[in-house]
Amino acid sequence: MTNLKILAISGSLRAASHNTFLLRAAQKVNPGGLDIEIYDSLRDIPPYDLDLDTPQDRPPIVRDLRRRISEADGLLIATPEFNYSIPGTLKNAIDWVSTDWTKTEGLPLLHKPIAIMGAAPTNFGSVRAQLALRQVFLWTHSDVVVKPEVIAFRSGERFDADGNLLDDATADLVAALLTALKEKILR
Ligand SMILES: Cc1cc2nc3c(=O)[nH]c(=O)nc-3n(C[C@H](O)[C@H](O)[C@H](O)COP(=O)(O)O)c2cc1C
Repeated sequence: MTNLKILAISGSLRAASHNTFLLRAAQKVNPGGLDIEIYDSLRDIPPYDLDLDTPQDRPPIVRDLRRRISEADGLLIATPEFNYSIPGTLKNAIDWVSTDWTKTEGLPLLHKPIAIMGAAPTNFGSVRAQLALRQVFLWTHSDVVVKPEVIAFRSGERFDADGNLLDDATADLVAALLTALKEKILR
């Protein structure tokens, strides 16, 4: 059987992002059977504009993201918490891939299996952002993994200078999340 395709998106743009590190850790603890590709163009997605949200007029980068999400068997999203919610860059990208105004293409996020996790340096590390993201995916009718919840709180203590995950407990949780995502896709 061919591997399942997982598109992984970090909600943080910075080079030393703990959330991007978490996605790299997911690639390492892959339980098998998954190809996990990290999306690296979030910073290039322009602000959402409904006037351009048609199959003909969408910016090429948005078309590319919509295609990659449609072709993926599942998504893995690592989100930081910005002001008790998800970063605007991440929400903006989700808005672009949440629509089908012409009713000709299908909705990229409809029933899409999605796993959510997050890292933040605070004691409450990304909990509220993850809840906010779950709420977004209610409207898009996506199929979000409920458990395990992966909350890398006090994330500064969990990675070395090269971004390697040092914490076995978090690694085990990430692996369990991937297994749950895989089971959801195969169900
Ligand atoms: C604009 C902004 C708002 C933030 N708001 C919160 C917040 O509400 N709660 C929180 O736990 N951390 C907050 N933080 C801290 C982020 O959680 C922290 O920068 C985190 O490491 C970002 O993830 P990254 O390492 O993947 O870049 C905020 C950071 C920024 C830049």
